[in-house]
Amino acid sequence: MIVLGIESSCDETAAAIVNYKKEILGEALLSQEEHKAFGGVVPEIAARSHLEHIDSIIEQCFKKANISPKDIDAVAAASGPGLIGGVIVGVMAAKAMAIALNKPFVAVNHLEGHALAARISNDVEFPYLLLLVSGGHCQILVVKDVDKYERLGTTIDDAVGEAFDKVAKMLGLGYPGGPAIEKIAQSGDKTRFTLPRPLIGSNDYNLSFSGLKTAVRKIIETYSPDGNLAHANIPAQDMADICACFQYTATDCLCRKLKKAIEYFKKQYPNGKHLVVSGGVASNVYLRSQLQKLADENNLIFAAPPIRFCTDNGVMIAWAGLERFRKNYTSPLDFKPRPRWPLDINAPKAAGAGGVKA
Ligand code: KG4
Ligand code: ZN
Repeated sequence: MIVLGIESSCDETAAAIVNYKKEILGEALLSQEEHKAFGGVVPEIAARSHLEHIDSIIEQCFKKANISPKDIDAVAAASGPGLIGGVIVGVMAAKAMAIALNKPFVAVNHLEGHALAARISNDVEFPYLLLLVSGGHCQILVVKDVDKYERLGTTIDDAVGEAFDKVAKMLGLGYPGGPAIEKIAQSGDKTRFTLPRPLIGSNDYNLSFSGLKTAVRKIIETYSPDGNLAHANIPAQDMADICACFQYTATDCLCRKLKKAIEYFKKQYPNGKHLVVSGGVASNVYLRSQLQKLADENNLIFAAPPIRFCTDNGVMIAWAGLERFRKNYTSPLDFKPRPRWPLDINAPKAAGAGGVKA
């Protein structure tokens, strides 16, 4: 069983071909550089760039895999949530190939791509507790099976990756902010500034990062003669301390809410063994180390995708496509790309697929 997966929901144009043995036969990825000057992803620029590059990315994939398009069994594409112009480009490319090759099309929820990514390189079995942390999403979920999720909590404002990006922008560190903050934080003192932990006492699994970001802004303002962040003159050590404190506090908020979620998970899903992290922010080594500790303290096995499969990539879409295809969860060719698509709302399935009609 061989599946091609296409990813184009944000600023990575990517594709990969995987088989059921978890072998990556071919992959290609282009990170769009055009957004750097804007401090964030510009949707229209992203969509045009996906359109320009998608064909050659798919072609490179087949070349690396040294197989013909006829050899694949299904074509998957991230079909939402995401920047809709880009999502449409990937979905149209996948549907066109599916029609031309007479193979099934599999609409993959981009978040399901992140959610199942840890299963490519680790033996993670269902059910597992998942922290999904990216630029657009920050959720705690139970992954019960392919297509079956229980969402325990979510951010009520900024996603944690978004907070990393916004803090980095305030500090003049460019986009994406996460890797830059992580690097600078290495030489910082994480106890220098006390930052707020919004929602941390609330009796649910929700998170909030907006107040934390504002508190960092207030600190940066004190380094500016006129309060304008662009005029802030921050000595290198202070910069490192701010980054370290932000990273430490954001991680602590995630860990504290996860601790609560672990209690629920263990009670409701006594067979569950794994705590998994995924999404772009899961590349953060400090966060990974804290989650490892949390898992150890609670007798869970910690699993995370290799760092290159945390940020957006084609392999996770191809793999999620394969997991769906294996269950016969293919999608109708009139599937409409979805700008919003919570993981606990299932994709319509092609008539006869998995016993469910569209
Ligand atoms: O999953 P992803 O590639 O795209 C979305 O689906 O959003 O995640 C991108 C996000 C960005 O906000 C980026 O700053 C963050 O992941 N990120 C990190 C790190 N690497 C990427 N955040 C913290 N530490 C990192 N090392
Ligand atoms: Zn993503």
